[in-house]
Amino acid sequence: MKLIFEKSRAGRRAGRVPDYGLAKPELPHELRRAHPPRLPEVAESEIVRHVTALADRTFGIDTGFYPLGSCTMKHNPRINERLGRLAGFRDLHPHQDDDGAQGALELMWRLQGILAEVAGLPAVTLQPAAGSQGELTGLMLMRAYFADRDEERDTIITADTAHGTNPASVTMAGYKLEKVETDGRGNLDLDDLRGKVNERTAGLMLTNPSTLGLFDEGIEDVARIFHDAGALLYYDGANLNAVVGISRPGDMGFDIVHYNLHKTFSQPHGGGGPGGGPVAVRETIEPYLPAPVVARDGDVFRLDHDRPKSIGRVRGFAGPFGVFVRSYAYMRAYGPDLKEMSEVAVLNANYLLARLRDAYDLPYDRHCMHEFVLSARNLKREHGITALDVAKRLMDYGIHPPTVYFPLVVPEALMIEPTETEPKERLDDFVDAMQAIAREATESPELLKEAPHGRPVRRLDEVRAAKQPILRYHFDEHPALVG
Ligand SMILES: Cc1ncc(COP(=O)(O)O)c(C=O)c1O
Repeated sequence: MKLIFEKSRAGRRAGRVPDYGLAKPELPHELRRAHPPRLPEVAESEIVRHVTALADRTFGIDTGFYPLGSCTMKHNPRINERLGRLAGFRDLHPHQDDDGAQGALELMWRLQGILAEVAGLPAVTLQPAAGSQGELTGLMLMRAYFADRDEERDTIITADTAHGTNPASVTMAGYKLEKVETDGRGNLDLDDLRGKVNERTAGLMLTNPSTLGLFDEGIEDVARIFHDAGALLYYDGANLNAVVGISRPGDMGFDIVHYNLHKTFSQPHGGGGPGGGPVAVRETIEPYLPAPVVARDGDVFRLDHDRPKSIGRVRGFAGPFGVFVRSYAYMRAYGPDLKEMSEVAVLNANYLLARLRDAYDLPYDRHCMHEFVLSARNLKREHGITALDVAKRLMDYGIHPPTVYFPLVVPEALMIEPTETEPKERLDDFVDAMQAIAREATESPELLKEAPHGRPVRRLDEVRAAKQPILRYHFDEHPALVG
């Protein structure tokens, strides 16, 4: 497919602004460009075709099965989009006075209430725009909490299965990082943990269920170890889809929790947004929450800026409002059945696990939660086929690859999260494809090595693409197209 720049022809336009003969403002000479910018010159019909062709090549949850572990790519009900576009929400200006934004503030206040109930913790900030920003906010809250108590603590503990954002947030927040190992059952190794928690420990950052898709069976002991040392527990809520309405992080002993609204509570995410990473906390940490928070006085809702101990703002205005509308609509539509959402997510994952465990290695042989991790190390050992080969071949079957090579503790990891919104037929299609690929690894491994065969691009140098992206088109290097 040609680039839009390559389709450019001098003088072509997608539209023209009528000339009303108005006076043209004078720009200071030094601010003027010497030459007009070189932009693609294309007719509207060609732009529409170009963008449509790009969209046709893009794989999304609306295209097919998307079992990207840890990312919870579930169906986004379209009604939520309609509600998000209601004029009263869509056209609201962020500088609107509180009394002109009562509906929006009430929605945020109610959303805070539902989130507090889900986490089992009383106070919520909606500001952070992603899980990772929730992590950073949570760590800043820990810092403010300990500073207020004149306690010097400088270390945060994470699991060796932690998502990359956990250590990144710890470092960004200025803490030292200490990692705890996973034991043979996929739980935090309590002996290793006991040896690492001390009076310098500020807290733990943990996903439960973990990125292995396993619920930590020792979570109450873990909480006791940290609380006995005066430290706090932070819950990375990326895997909350497994436990909503069933167990609450606050009841497990966590003091600070983030939610990934875009995962658990449905947003059309992927490719960078939109996201929401609200944070819930215990009473003792509530005074430090980012300001403003949404408050209610009788029937009136307002943004409360009067919070002397607050860590300050972590995001512009009150947070990603469109995300709030969609998540709130989603929660209200499910109501108490949010529990069923998690139950079916767990059921679907266990169904896939049961049907795939003979074809691939299963490093931790337990019932899983909403996702599970297989290993392609059997295929590597016997046929030289890697997790990447399996992932690329899945594309030929019209399925988005699962997360691969994560968590790091599992060699040749394939992390699979089907979510609750997939019917049994789609799950069976996936099983058929995965089993067929395992057979192909034996019978025709070269087919896998060269996959994908049916996609517009084959194997990419993904590291180079990320580190040296080519973001400019140099018309000078293509004189025939210079406009
Ligand atoms: C376990 C885990 N923690 C944290 C995050 C970070 O969340 P976000 O992508 O919303 O920043 C992710 C995202 O994939 C995750 O899977």
